[in-house]
Amino acid sequence: MSIPADISSASEQRIQTRLDEAKLATALTDVERVQLVEEIKQALNANNAILVAHYYVDSDIQKLAEETGGIVADSLEMARFGARHDATTLIVAGVRFMGETAKILNPEKRVLMPELDAACSLDLGCPADEFSAFCDQHPDRTAVVYANTSAEVKARADWVVTSGIALPVAQHLASLGEKVLWAPDKHLGNYVRSESGADMILWPGSCVVHDAFRADELQVLKAQHPDAEILVHPESPEPVVAMADVVGSTTALIKAAQESVAPELIVATDRGIFYKMKQAAPDKILLEAPTRGLGATCESCSHCPWMAMNGLRNTLTALNTGSGEIEINPDTGERARVPLQRMMDFAEMHRLQVKGNA
Ligand code: 13P
Ligand code: SF4
Repeated sequence: MSIPADISSASEQRIQTRLDEAKLATALTDVERVQLVEEIKQALNANNAILVAHYYVDSDIQKLAEETGGIVADSLEMARFGARHDATTLIVAGVRFMGETAKILNPEKRVLMPELDAACSLDLGCPADEFSAFCDQHPDRTAVVYANTSAEVKARADWVVTSGIALPVAQHLASLGEKVLWAPDKHLGNYVRSESGADMILWPGSCVVHDAFRADELQVLKAQHPDAEILVHPESPEPVVAMADVVGSTTALIKAAQESVAPELIVATDRGIFYKMKQAAPDKILLEAPTRGLGATCESCSHCPWMAMNGLRNTLTALNTGSGEIEINPDTGERARVPLQRMMDFAEMHRLQVKGNA
């Protein structure tokens, strides 16, 4: 894992502490797994609850979401699904900002998470007071924040975006002549800036998982697999993005895997995505993009330590006891809802436009 270098030392320390504290969900035997799945299914029914899972969580949870009418999705679709489903409880298997987004958009629903301590280095590296000071220094700029931020940071922003909609939003703002202040992921910001031509200044945050992908090692792997296509999430460093055949959100990468004619795919994102990617592209050989130098004990260790905290056992505990409930100050929630809803409305309009042009 690589801690972002240019953020404040207090943020660096916070990320390191939370990395040290992150605990893998408890390992299960097959018998325990079967029993827990049955109990969770009953608890979902009893609580009028639905499971909303990210592609990076354990495949047991992804499978359960599929089997129970929930969803496995990227962060944009998780937000959309939670808002349109009529369940009164959403159980969000992912990281904290995903649960908070669900609560902000659905203040009347109960939002539970298997693990409230499931953090994100982007969120931890962009505290609200420092972000606010950054905004105050640039009052002429439109503040666009990635969804991987706290409710307080969203409350100070003009727009929230996910990786699935960041580029069209930046293009839209550039077309209006607006100058952008972007936070917190510098790699995604850099990619969006170069693709959109928007005038953007960037917060120096990064994702501990994606920042660790290495272009030099990727060259070596590509030389060994010359027919492989390279799929890259835009939270990865610029030299890795530069080698990509496809750059996109988690959903976009799964779609690219399905449509690709290449026999092998090298994937630069969290390996939790392989569960859905294998369903979408069963004949393809999937290779993890390397994150370490030659001679390291693993070729790639690309798995988010906080996503890995979600397990069947803590999912059941949350449903049975109501633990892991997301609570947001109503005033913060109301203010954060404005830029989030702006994204949701824009995403809907953009989807209709893309469909219309297809
Ligand atoms: P997506 O919006 O592509 O799901 O990404 C969220 C995330 O945290 C990636 O690391
Ligand atoms: Fe955050 Fe990175 Fe984990 Fe995604 S993979 S939740 S960006 S730390």
